[in-house]
Formats: sequence, C-alpha cells, structure tokens
Amino acid sequence: MASILGFGGYVPERIVTNDDWAARLDTSDEWITQRTGIKRRRFAADDQATLDLALEASRKAVADAGMEPADIDEIVLATDTPEMLTPDTAALVQHGLGCRNIPTYDLGGSGCAGFVQALDVAASRIATGTRNVLVVGVEVITRLISLEDRSTAVLFGDGAGAVVMGPGPGRASVLGAVSGTDGGSAEILTLAAGGTRNPFNATTLANGEFNRLVMDGRKVFVEAVRRMSEASLQVLEKVGRSISDVALVIPHQANKRIIDAVTSKLGLAEDKVYVNVHEYGNIGSATVPFALWEAVGAGKLVAGDLVILTAFGAGFHWAAAAVQF
Ligand code: UT7
Repeated sequence: MASILGFGGYVPERIVTNDDWAARLDTSDEWITQRTGIKRRRFAADDQATLDLALEASRKAVADAGMEPADIDEIVLATDTPEMLTPDTAALVQHGLGCRNIPTYDLGGSGCAGFVQALDVAASRIATGTRNVLVVGVEVITRLISLEDRSTAVLFGDGAGAVVMGPGPGRASVLGAVSGTDGGSAEILTLAAGGTRNPFNATTLANGEFNRLVMDGRKVFVEAVRRMSEASLQVLEKVGRSISDVALVIPHQANKRIIDAVTSKLGLAEDKVYVNVHEYGNIGSATVPFALWEAVGAGKLVAGDLVILTAFGAGFHWAAAAVQF
C-alpha cells in the first residue's frame, strides 16, 4: 500500500488583502468576506514563477521524508498554470531539484482537483513497482487570469504543496482514492484561449480573451458541494470506513460557503473540517497539499487519525482520498 513519507508547502511572501482589491476594483472587503470567506491571499513575486514555488514545496517534502533528490524515482505534478506550455513543469522540477533522469509527468487542466488525482495516480504507480514518487500541486494563477475582472480575480492566490509517497509503512497510508470527470461541463469553468482551437494571437489579445477565466460561479458552487460530499462518502465506502471514523476532512479551499455546505452534507462538526481559505484564497491544485502540510506542521494530525482529502475543479473533475495516519 502507498504511504506518505514527507510533506511540504510554500506560499509567496506578498500578501494582497481584500482592501487592496477594493482600492483597485469595484469590490469590498464586506462582499468578498461574505461571499467567499477570503480575507487575504498571496501573490508570487515578480521574479517568481510556477517552477520556483514547486521547488520550494518539493525541497521541504523531500527533506521531511528524510531523503535526497536522488532518492526520488518519479514526479507527478498537477497544475493548470505551468511554467511554460512545453515542456512540463515536472521536467523542470526534476532538473531543478537535482534528481536522476527519472520519468516525470504533468497532470494539467484538472483544475483544483489535480493534486488529489495525482495522488491517486501515484498510488497506482507505487502499486505496480515504482518506489518514491514526488507528488506536487502548484499554481501561479494570479499571473494567467485577468486582474481587472472582479468576479474571478479576488478569489485566487498562488502557492504550492507537495508530498513524497512510497511503498510500505510511512507517516500515513493512502487507503484508497476515487476520481471522476464530467467533460460535458467544461464550458462552465474555462480559460479557452492559448490552445490550438483559439491560439494566442492579436485577436485574442485585442478581445481580452487570453486571460479571461469564464466561470458560472453558482453552477460551480453547487457541483463542488455535491461532488466533494459524494466523493468523500464513496472513498469511505471503498475503504470500508464510515464518516464517524474521520478525524479531519481537508477539502479544496475555494470558498468558505462551499466548505460549510460540504461540512453540513457530511454531518460533520466544524472542527473536523480544515479551513485556511481566509488566509490564502483558492490556490487551485495546491490547496489540498498545502493544507495537509500546514495541518501536519500544526500537530493537528496524529497516529490513528483517518483523513479525507477531497477536491473539485475545472473539467469538471473531482476526487477524494482516504489517508490513515
Ligand atoms: O475551484 C473552483 C473555482 N471556482 C469556485 O470555486 C467558485 C464557486 N463559486 C463561488 O464561490 C461563488 O459563486 C462566487 C463567490 C464566485 C460568487 O458568489 P455568489 O453568491 O454566487 O454571487 P453571484 O455570482 O450571484 O453574484 C452576485 C453579484 C453580481 O451582481 P448582480 O448581477 O447581482 O448585480 C456580481 O456582479 O455580485 C457581483 N460581484 C461582485 N461584487 C463585488 C461579483 N464579483 C464581485 C466582487 N465584488 N468581487
């Protein structure tokens, strides 16, 4: 069975508050707080990009596992905001960390569900003989979306989280995972320009399409609550456990109201659901591994604790994993 051997997380230093947004756009601390629970978020420094954040979190995870980069046998990295279009950010992490010439993969476009899907993929790689897999969730979302569109700009932040997984006993065992996709809902949350259908060119630039994240917030909200709740229960059933066994749920951090609705659907007490969205906003595929690293570092997870990781994002994709400390 695959285990988690080390945890890492990183957010950039620059803090952008709701009042900072209110000074720039037609919005307010009151609106953002009431609708999302977000108070502040981090922005990558001008000289930082996705690779820098990924390396910071990865180095911590590798060290936390008591390993050297040479001990890593594979890298799976989830991001919707890669360092560049090609090659994959995972290849750049392989070189940047100083790993051997191991295989690396980006899991791109899974939105905020990417890390939990990557964890599922890594667990199956370990089941077929791969040893130590570095799994990363990283985003520099604030660089690729419009900072003039108040309906999306205020929601997001930048950050990274990582785990090292391997076979045999570790700090926590991945008991099982479930994932699902509804590609028919793709247009509900999409950044359509920059691919082959609608390449970056003078027209996409003139129309402001190159960085326009199109989102039907209400539909995303409803589906996020439904899918994260269902996936949590499905993974519990898969591993033969029940909601009353759960010590902590770490859901994707998009919106406090979404998290509250999942908490209520699962019938959980508030203190059994991890929340840091007020501090960092939505950091895409990095929310779950970053929160996991934070929770472990704060001593919130001890031996015996059953933890559910669950996430939802563009695609739509959703996933949940059951992790036994
Ligand atoms: O990880 C997946 C990524 N996305 C999400 O998770 C998003 C999920 N959805 C949500 O979190 C919520 O739907 C939002 C926070 C995006 C919006 O909350 P809502 O309660 O669904 O508001 P709404 O979309 O119904 O908009 C209400 C009003 C609109 O004005 P009108 O049409 O009622 O006059 C918006 O134009 O709020 C307006 N609005 C804003 N006002 C002030 C939208 N953004 C802002 C803003 N400041 N930043």
